[in-house]
Amino acid sequence: MNRLDGKGVVITGAASGLGRSLALVLARKGCRIGIADINMDGAEETLKMVKGGGGDGETFKLDVSKPEEVEAMAAHFFETWGSVDLLVNNAGVAVTGFVGDIPLEDWEWIIGINFWGMLYGCHYFIPRMKAQGGGHILNVASAAGLLCMMEMAPYNTAKAGIISLSETLKWELAPDNIGVTVLCPMFFDTHLLDEMRFTDDFEHEFARTTFDHARMTSGEVAEAAVKAVEKGRLYCLPQTTGKFFWVIKRISPSFFSGLMAFVNQHPMARPLYLWLARKGLLQ
Ligand SMILES: NC(=O)c1ccc[n+]([C@@H]2O[C@H](COP(=O)([O-])OP(=O)(O)OC[C@H]3O[C@@H](n4cnc5c(N)ncnc54)[C@H](O)[C@@H]3O)[C@@H](O)[C@H]2O)c1
Repeated sequence: MNRLDGKGVVITGAASGLGRSLALVLARKGCRIGIADINMDGAEETLKMVKGGGGDGETFKLDVSKPEEVEAMAAHFFETWGSVDLLVNNAGVAVTGFVGDIPLEDWEWIIGINFWGMLYGCHYFIPRMKAQGGGHILNVASAAGLLCMMEMAPYNTAKAGIISLSETLKWELAPDNIGVTVLCPMFFDTHLLDEMRFTDDFEHEFARTTFDHARMTSGEVAEAAVKAVEKGRLYCLPQTTGKFFWVIKRISPSFFSGLMAFVNQHPMARPLYLWLARKGLLQ
């Protein structure tokens, strides 16, 4: 997709954090924005900010883990607007802990939103985009899906699935003039921790520390994502740290995973992670 100026965009999870920041970046480009979220107070607040920032749009209440609600969202925007140029699958939640300790309900909760929610978005928007002759899908994954840090298995697994889905779609949708971008940020400060589920206090402290020492704001991550969409890039890794770790892993996946496992055997591993987070080296 070239310039996004004046386009019709639907963003899930736009009541807060990155979704709201994306809405505001796109509002400055005069876009019409479908602000979809489970939290309507936040969605209405985003709409006000969008209107004040040069854009227009409307809110839509849904739970992305419910396929019938995602289908209703797709039908609503294609029917009332006539077309949707960009779908942003962004709504997400976080779960941390060790496999075996994390309750299965928490696995089901996060996979339902972070994986199935995004898959439903693709499933219901792609046929409609094909019929209109093109479009673009921005899937918000995470560097976690590439790097697979410990104590984040449900989050890593869902995001790795989204990266794989996006890579597949990039090829599959090329003949239909539908572009695909997958956003893979490291940590940045949003409301993600408000609803985060964890199995011990260290995980919460670690996550809070990474957010408090974040190198980029959600606005900066949103700017990078919009630029990647406009340039038709598949991968968007906004932070240098994410790019650095990903390059190391791509050069030697065995070295990367072996090193992480080795460090993790040491009793100082957790204090080391906290120290790295405080220095901003993990975000
Ligand atoms: N913050 C980070 O460090 C970070 C890093 C990498 C990726 N991400 C990803 O960015 C995306 C946005 O998260 P954020 O950090 O802005 O967090 P956030 O909590 O500020 O925003 C998430 C939004 O999703 C909405 N949401 C949650 N469950 C929903 C559901 N079932 N149906 C509809 N909406 C729902 C929330 O109401 C909220 O508005 C997520 O996919 C997250 O995994 C965040």
